[in-house]
Amino acid sequence: MSILDKNKVEHYNGISTLNNHSILKRGVRTMKYKVEVLTGIRPTNDLTIANYLGAVMPIIELQAQGISPVVFVADLHALTDNEPATIRQYIYGVVADYIALGVDPQKANIYLQSDIIGEVTTLTTLLSRHISVAELLRVPTLKDKLKANTRPETANTLLFLYPILMAADILLNRARKVPVGEDQLAHIEVTRLLARRFNKKYGEVFPIPDVLQVKPLRILSLKGEGKMSKTNPNGAIFLTDNLKTVARKIKSAETAFEMIVNEKLKSHILIAGKLAKTESEREEVDAIIQEHKTGKPVMGRFKQLFIRIVQNFLAEFQGKRAEIMRDPSYIPSVLEKGAKIARENAIETLQEVKRVLWLT
Ligand code: TYM
Repeated sequence: MSILDKNKVEHYNGISTLNNHSILKRGVRTMKYKVEVLTGIRPTNDLTIANYLGAVMPIIELQAQGISPVVFVADLHALTDNEPATIRQYIYGVVADYIALGVDPQKANIYLQSDIIGEVTTLTTLLSRHISVAELLRVPTLKDKLKANTRPETANTLLFLYPILMAADILLNRARKVPVGEDQLAHIEVTRLLARRFNKKYGEVFPIPDVLQVKPLRILSLKGEGKMSKTNPNGAIFLTDNLKTVARKIKSAETAFEMIVNEKLKSHILIAGKLAKTESEREEVDAIIQEHKTGKPVMGRFKQLFIRIVQNFLAEFQGKRAEIMRDPSYIPSVLEKGAKIARENAIETLQEVKRVLWLT
């Protein structure tokens, strides 16, 4: 039995006379990044183009550069405010969405969060003591939720733990970069804070992750009221919207008076620019906006172009997705392979965490 193991036994038996805690600190094995880029999506509804632009498109771009991404279906996060039966119904859909959007199961790893529920919830618990209740209550997403439709009296504790659960996902994978929309920035900050605090106390266990984008996107609702969100369907373009619906939604989108480029219009320009398939379409967008800036009434033309770009994007996506869903039987095998790899990585991380905490 090594000296450290002996100390542990004494400590367990409550007979330790050691008051020098540094002796009890276990030697640290510095952990390295394991996953270059990681992101997750909650299976709560059909995805919107904001989910694609904020989180998935950056992944596809990195995959094209030869990086192997890891993406997952965040069904435990979905449980914060959705019924299990609803969640169940969207899981395969999110996997099909990832693949139809360009995540290549041969290059990427796709897993279901609850397939590693033991590891995720264990790390959530072990991280929880490194952040105070007051700090969690200051996380803007929680503050907004509590203001909007949930009160502390009725909010469930999983909602409260949401950022720590997210930190567990990222830290278990030892991910370097996390592409997310702007709404998730605060959660990445909590993740970084938890990792730093843990490392300070126990040694460099967690490599510190960061947001991928220098400036994460905030796609606005077409109506301009807040961000585009699954919970506000009229202001959102869903990846499953049919072409007529898209045209209707964009026609009733709010834009801006001549010469003015407000936040709403900026968001529309961003969507059009990112979804455009060709350089000439992007040039068309620029040219119309230049005319707008000189005071010409071109918003009707802009909307026509905007509709065409989004419809082309969705037609291609929906074609691919339909093909995948015609025979979804291979999705379980994709998730099975994903779970195996995710579990191996998670166990490796968790073993080190437990070791430095004297839990093994
Ligand atoms: P979810 O499903 O709510 O959102 C998935 C991704 O879509 C981004 N997003 C947006 N981006 C730009 N503009 C918008 N209007 C917009 N709306 C949504 C979100 O920022 C997100 O990146 N908590 C995550 C799921 C998750 C996760 C993780 C992500 C759980 N664990 C670990 C990364 C790493 C979420 O918001 O899912």
